[in-house]
Amino acid sequence: MAQPLAASGAAVSSSSPLFSSSSSRPIARRHAPPSYVSMRTRRRRQPAAAEAAAAAEPSGSPLLEVRGLTASVKETGQQILAGVDLTIREGEIHAIMGKNGSGKSTLTKVLVGHPHYEVTGGTILFKGEDLVDMEPEDRSLAGLFMSFQAPIEIPGVSNFDFLLMAVNARREKSGLPALGPLEFYSVVSPKVDALKMDPKFLDRNVNEGFSGGERKRNEILQLSVIGADLALLDEIDSGLDVDALEDVANAVNGLLTPQNSVLMITHYQRLLDLIKPSYVHIMVSRIAKYDLLPSDLTCLARCV
Ligand SMILES: Nc1ncnc2c1ncn2[C@@H]1O[C@H](COP(=O)(O)OP(=O)(O)O)[C@@H](O)[C@H]1O
Ligand SMILES: [Mg+2]
Repeated sequence: MAQPLAASGAAVSSSSPLFSSSSSRPIARRHAPPSYVSMRTRRRRQPAAAEAAAAAEPSGSPLLEVRGLTASVKETGQQILAGVDLTIREGEIHAIMGKNGSGKSTLTKVLVGHPHYEVTGGTILFKGEDLVDMEPEDRSLAGLFMSFQAPIEIPGVSNFDFLLMAVNARREKSGLPALGPLEFYSVVSPKVDALKMDPKFLDRNVNEGFSGGERKRNEILQLSVIGADLALLDEIDSGLDVDALEDVANAVNGLLTPQNSVLMITHYQRLLDLIKPSYVHIMVSRIAKYDLLPSDLTCLARCV
């Protein structure tokens, strides 16, 4: 089993593979640390020439711009996010790490408009458009995709029909004619093969009776079929064995273009070796009792 990134002392040193020169783009500090639950970004150490090159970056247009985002649980009013700043540009891969309960999943759910949460302050712009008042389905049609940490079942709806509906909704928005089932099969079939999934999964109801690993593969199948300008991947590595993780990572890497971006949440170095991030952020909670945490997490938190 892979070790959590933070479980090694090397995890926070400049010699860590996470921060090595094999990373496709520099890891640089992008935002001032906010107050309560904040994002801290790890800068990769590099030679002067590389520093100069990095200073010229970033080049892509901003895709997602989050400023001073605060959000609470709708039912109880409990504040979870209290000042998150994050900019993701076209073509960038961002990773968020941080201890359990620091608000990582909440951030992604707020971005896609999950009904359990209420934005109480700050702004979220996606391709320059204000996301906050947009319905979740409109966010999806705008090009935002989320792979959930715990994907839900949709009883009575086959995977095939679900994917076809999602693809046709996207096509309709772009003024393209709907695909028929036969035509769509030729689109979906190679993607099922690429993920080494049994084609029978297309006939099964969405996630019904799927194992944890099968659900994760299915989430990435949805992403590869539906497509996205920004994919939010919440712990896609959980429940996957080494081979499955490689298949999923290959599928994600195969979707990357200079225009689209990924935000992935993970605790593990292994995923970051397979999908190389441009930036790594640490979600930090002001109220975290670092002295009660294992020393590895203390180090990770203090060293950013
Ligand atoms: N719907 C909710 N109701 C109550 N508490 C919640 C809800 N969603 C998140 N929380 C709480 O907010 C904190 C952050 O949760 P989460 O975003 O899932 O953390 P992470 O993904 O970093 O582990 C946790 O303490 C969690 O219990
Ligand atoms: Mg989570």
